[in-house]
Amino acid sequence: MIHTKIYLLPILALLPYAASAPGSPPGGHHGPPPPSCPGPCLATSLSDFTWDLSIEYHAFWYFTTPAHQNSWGTVTLNLSNPAVPAVKTLACGASSDRLSDFFYGDQWYPCASNPASPAILDTSFRFFSRSRVDVNQTWVCDEDGLVKFAALATAPLNMTCTDVSWTNPNWTYGTGEFYSTRDVKCAPVSLRLKPNEERILL
Ligand SMILES: *[C@@H]1O[C@H](CO)[C@@H](O)[C@H](O)[C@H]1NC(C)=O
Ligand SMILES: *[C@@H]1O[C@H](CO)[C@@H](O)[C@H](O)[C@H]1NC(C)=O
Ligand SMILES: *[C@@H]1O[C@H](CO)[C@@H](O)[C@H](O)[C@H]1NC(C)=O
Ligand SMILES: *[C@@H]1O[C@H](CO)[C@@H](O)[C@H](O)[C@H]1NC(C)=O
Repeated sequence: MIHTKIYLLPILALLPYAASAPGSPPGGHHGPPPPSCPGPCLATSLSDFTWDLSIEYHAFWYFTTPAHQNSWGTVTLNLSNPAVPAVKTLACGASSDRLSDFFYGDQWYPCASNPASPAILDTSFRFFSRSRVDVNQTWVCDEDGLVKFAALATAPLNMTCTDVSWTNPNWTYGTGEFYSTRDVKCAPVSLRLKPNEERILL
């Protein structure tokens, strides 16, 4: 991918700072000191960056008659960015009534931004039929000038789900009772999410 090549150059240019700054003993340097040292935001963003992600899925099918259903799926996720720990966790979610997997990975859903913390600029995700999640985020480090990062991650998911169906044995039309229901619930999955692509925005 062309983008990766272009944007890797500025990352490499900054790497020496990341490698020498955090935890390096004072005075261990020979020659002139580097012009500046990155703070924790830059250091975390530049070395083996990962998000902490937790994601869960729930879907409901409610049939009021054999031919009429009201069905939807929801996906919720909590995301934290260790470079910006002040923003503890971003909560994101989406619901869909597109039968029957509800999420097909063809749509990006924005996460609400946290007005209290402008350091996280934008976050969005997409979800592929319980089997994959993509996360996309831009954030900014304000240490010795502003440095803006954009990263995109793709993670396969192996969700463990329960699938419970119920059919009303006595259903008759017009009683208002459910004809049948189905409830699919997938336990939260927690993972370290490593970007497939991270770049500095110029
Ligand atoms: C996200 O965090 C909230 C608040 O702590 C919690 O109630 C919810 O279960 C979490 N969701 C996931 C998918 O971990
Ligand atoms: C990131 O998400 C936005 C939607 O907010 C989307 O338009 C954009 O294409 C995504 N970027 C990448 C690299 O996939
Ligand atoms: C998914 O998880 C189940 C239960 O933990 C396990 O048996 C199965 O091997 C896993 N599949 C993959 C592809 O990781
Ligand atoms: C079905 O309806 C009959 C008659 O109203 C009732 O006796 C029976 O208990 C019902 N069965 C169930 C499973 O609700």
